[in-house]
Amino acid sequence: MTPVVYVQDIARYAGQDVTIRGWLRNKRSSGKLHFLIVRDGTGDLQAVVSKAVVGEESFAQSATLTQESSILLTGTVKQDARAQGGFELDVKHLESVHIAEPFPIQPKEHSVGFLMEHRHLWLRSSRQHAVLRIRHEIVRACRNFFDDRGFLLVDTPIFTPNACEGTTTLFQTDYFDEKAYLTQSGQLYSEATAAAFGKVYCFGPTFRAEKSKTRRHLMEFWMVEPEVAFAELSDMMNLAEEFLSFIVERVLENRRNELAVLERDITKLEQVKAPFPRVPYTDAVALLQKKGNPIQFGDDFGGDEETLLSKEFDRPAIVHLYPAPIKAFYMQNDPQQPDLALCMDVLAPEGYGEIIGGGQRIHEYEKLLARIQEHKLPEEAFQWYLDLRRYGSVPHAGFGMGIERAVAWICGLDHVRETIAFPRMLYKLYP
Ligand code: 4AD
Ligand code: MG
Repeated sequence: MTPVVYVQDIARYAGQDVTIRGWLRNKRSSGKLHFLIVRDGTGDLQAVVSKAVVGEESFAQSATLTQESSILLTGTVKQDARAQGGFELDVKHLESVHIAEPFPIQPKEHSVGFLMEHRHLWLRSSRQHAVLRIRHEIVRACRNFFDDRGFLLVDTPIFTPNACEGTTTLFQTDYFDEKAYLTQSGQLYSEATAAAFGKVYCFGPTFRAEKSKTRRHLMEFWMVEPEVAFAELSDMMNLAEEFLSFIVERVLENRRNELAVLERDITKLEQVKAPFPRVPYTDAVALLQKKGNPIQFGDDFGGDEETLLSKEFDRPAIVHLYPAPIKAFYMQNDPQQPDLALCMDVLAPEGYGEIIGGGQRIHEYEKLLARIQEHKLPEEAFQWYLDLRRYGSVPHAGFGMGIERAVAWICGLDHVRETIAFPRMLYKLYP
């Protein structure tokens, strides 16, 4: 029996007969030869079909193969320096599994709108393969980073009774006789698990009904969120710095080919090393004003400000100590400057902007209760969260990184829509 192998392992079978199962990406012919470019999900391989070898009937059959037809090919693996990947397949036997109808995505330029409508098919392109492989590498690096440092993965719920990041971006749903919201962040629950296990992380989908149509916003995105007991803002700055350096290093180590497909300037990624600049919000405002931006102290940064700021640095910048009123209810105040919150946003360079948000949490019961009331949040829904401040409360801190924004930055993409297999965007739910 000839072994059934994947294209990524082809080098191991040089000189041997194997079977490849895949889809036809492209085809060209020259009289008595057909050159088939076959994709099997792990890579592309050129297969040479010769009339003299396969016979009249199979040769005629291979001429009928359309783009994306599925096929089984058996033949000899031949080393060939001219072939993509250094190998090709001299086909001895060919079998079509399904002849594809005319494929909507042709090897030519299509509009983004058209490609998004056909996202389920667009995923077969080399470019999408590169992006999603890098995404996987980033996800794996996130898990390895925390796992290797003794963080416990504790998953948090998706249906929640509470708002974490403001009440204006909640997706509401029926939960039997109650109302529930899709989670905006696992943080509040991770605060409970951090008090149980010391240091934890959660990693899952999060949802924001943000009426924003920008290159940075999705309605559904994945977030990895560490939370640490007995930790302060400065600990999170150090952790985020180490974390991002680790992720970028992993991608540079393992996904060079994919970065090349995306024509990513990797010299920019090679600069992502500690120490990262630490910029107090006040300095960031001064910097923006110097650049001619009309921002005033107390204003939050929008897309333009983030873009401008993040172009100022050659590596991620940790902007910290924002005015408390523009930040979430749970944020601890700076004891020296009580108007400021002990929080940080990490802005990716090259204009990418915020990829991480986090900081230190209020750990005093009375203070937190007052904040919940100030923000007019329903007290009943937060009783369990207040409980955490009644039983062995300690200073604690954490952060969250949006996976899609990190992928967009590391891949050098101009929009988050290509960073997830099926993006959920404003008014866009299909496919
Ligand atoms: O800054 P955010 O809102 O912070 C939190 O949710 C905290 N509770 C996290 C924590 O401290 N555990 O969101 C964190 C990150 C952002 O920096 C961004 O990368 C990503 O989540 N993010 C989005 N990504 C894509 N689309 C959106 N609509 C996003 N909103 C936030
Ligand atoms: Mg934020």
